[in-house]
Amino acid sequence: MPPTPPPAQPPLPPPLDPAAKEAALAELRVKALACTRCPNLASSRTTVVFGVGTVQARLMFVGEAPGADEDEQGEPFVGKAGELLTRMIGAMGLSRSDVYIANILKCRPDTPGQTSGNRKPTTDEMATCIPWLHQQIDIIQPSAIVALGATAVEGLLGKTLGISKLRGNWQQYRGIHLMPTYHPAYLLRNQAPSEKRKVWEDLMAVMEHLELPISAKQRGYFLSKV
Ligand code: URA
Repeated sequence: MPPTPPPAQPPLPPPLDPAAKEAALAELRVKALACTRCPNLASSRTTVVFGVGTVQARLMFVGEAPGADEDEQGEPFVGKAGELLTRMIGAMGLSRSDVYIANILKCRPDTPGQTSGNRKPTTDEMATCIPWLHQQIDIIQPSAIVALGATAVEGLLGKTLGISKLRGNWQQYRGIHLMPTYHPAYLLRNQAPSEKRKVWEDLMAVMEHLELPISAKQRGYFLSKV
């Protein structure tokens, strides 16, 4: 049997003007915050972690799912991996308020019987939750999306090829440039300069696509120790 092709991507709706984007995202947030489509997650979560940043963003980062810190604070990427993501965004000459950050799953995956730890979202949870992210992207319509890790790529593109094969290669999400790269949690586990450099090269490709300036100093990040 040939492999199943990824699902066809529906076109984006016509873009909204800035004020209409603000209103549409605010309305969507209210609906998402009341979501109970996954009863187990709705009862275990502290809060729905909808997304953070500006609706006018040209760049969007998509991660996997909230962890304990995010569940508590209601904001994506605020724990250790989030601190690294914030530094990565800063290295690009941007701040968190210049971009939009969201996850495939809006609720922290539950871990019944455990007091700590995280787990990967199930395929069913991803399929149930992904319409929220599709609608966030419909509204924001960034010029580029950075998919952080294998789950983000799988959720957005239906591709399970493996992040080390996909990273660094532009993909298309409904006509938007999508760059797969390693999740910051991977870089926390593997601090080799060569791995940091790979992610940095992926982010520089995104900067070039967005026509952001890249200084000679930025071009050399993590090079000397490779
Ligand atoms: N990891 C993710 O993928 N998302 C978060 O919001 C935090 C950690």
